[in-house]
Amino acid sequence: MRIEDPKIVAALPDLGVQLKPRTSLAELTSLGIGGATDLLSITRHDAIPDLLNLLDGQAIPHKFLGGGSNLLVGDGELPWVVLQLASPQPDIVLEGNFAQVDAAADLGRTVTFCAKNDLGGMEGLIGVPGTIGGALRMNAGAYGMQIGSYVREVKLYRAASRQMETLQGDQISFEYRHTSFAPDDMMLAVKLELPSKPYPEILKGIRICNEKRRASQPLGQKSAGCIFKNPPGASAGRMIDELGLKGLNVGDARVSDRHANFFVNSGKASAKDMLTLIAGVRERVEKSFGVILEYEVVVWNA
Ligand code: EPU
Repeated sequence: MRIEDPKIVAALPDLGVQLKPRTSLAELTSLGIGGATDLLSITRHDAIPDLLNLLDGQAIPHKFLGGGSNLLVGDGELPWVVLQLASPQPDIVLEGNFAQVDAAADLGRTVTFCAKNDLGGMEGLIGVPGTIGGALRMNAGAYGMQIGSYVREVKLYRAASRQMETLQGDQISFEYRHTSFAPDDMMLAVKLELPSKPYPEILKGIRICNEKRRASQPLGQKSAGCIFKNPPGASAGRMIDELGLKGLNVGDARVSDRHANFFVNSGKASAKDMLTLIAGVRERVEKSFGVILEYEVVVWNA
């Protein structure tokens, strides 16, 4: 979608918003799939309500993009514009055991920055691509930990009330790959409380998680991480593997040979290819195991 209304275009600089016309989302997502649309890069949180009023006034639909690492975007000209936070500098400020982190901060960099300052707890998240905001929204986790355990406060823009709000940790529920945030809430910043740990000890944990991840996941390939959530008490990857579906493909969309819950873009896969592959695998799992797998990947296909 193009933003062509001169009134909107003229108002953007004063709001600290940069218009990036016809941005390819294939280049902003770890799957390397997705069509094009206008992107609005936001440098000031306080400008968000005015920006959204402007867009709503012209009935321009929008979506919030984080790090694009858990996202499957549709093909072609996209029928909405994309809003993305630009990361301020510094994007992480430490005070005692608290880390105040901007939503646009890179997750891996946050884990290592905190580690170097003797703050641990998030070792399992090393190697998970994306931003702090994205990790927060879906309660990213791995190797027995989840980010929600460390969240004490979240600053967000609530589309429903059209206001910036600050929620305390106990006002938010964090479950397995799910939170109580509304789909159109925009994460802005988070305050984490992390346990003190000497850096060498954290580093040991980080190395162990890194090795496990490297051994079991296709890290060098374009993917969105796990496509499906694990059903209670089972592993989606193991079920897909047991059906012999590793390597199954639709065009360049392929079930990874290394981990069957990772679907990779091995070349020029389209969203249509990937969605067809996902639907096919889901159907096979349902037929054989009687389990309807739930998507973990977020799909923006309209
Ligand atoms: N397995 C297979 N074949 C496969 C994949 C896995 O037999 O192709 C078996 C493994 O051998 C193991 C079991 O299934 O016995 C579980 O596999 P793994 O340890 O890789 O964990 P997972 O349940 O597949 C979950 C998360 C990952 C996270 C890892 C490590 C989900 C959907 N997946 O994977 O998260 O990195 O544990 O904690 O919750 C993600 O969220 O995108 C993601 C990749």
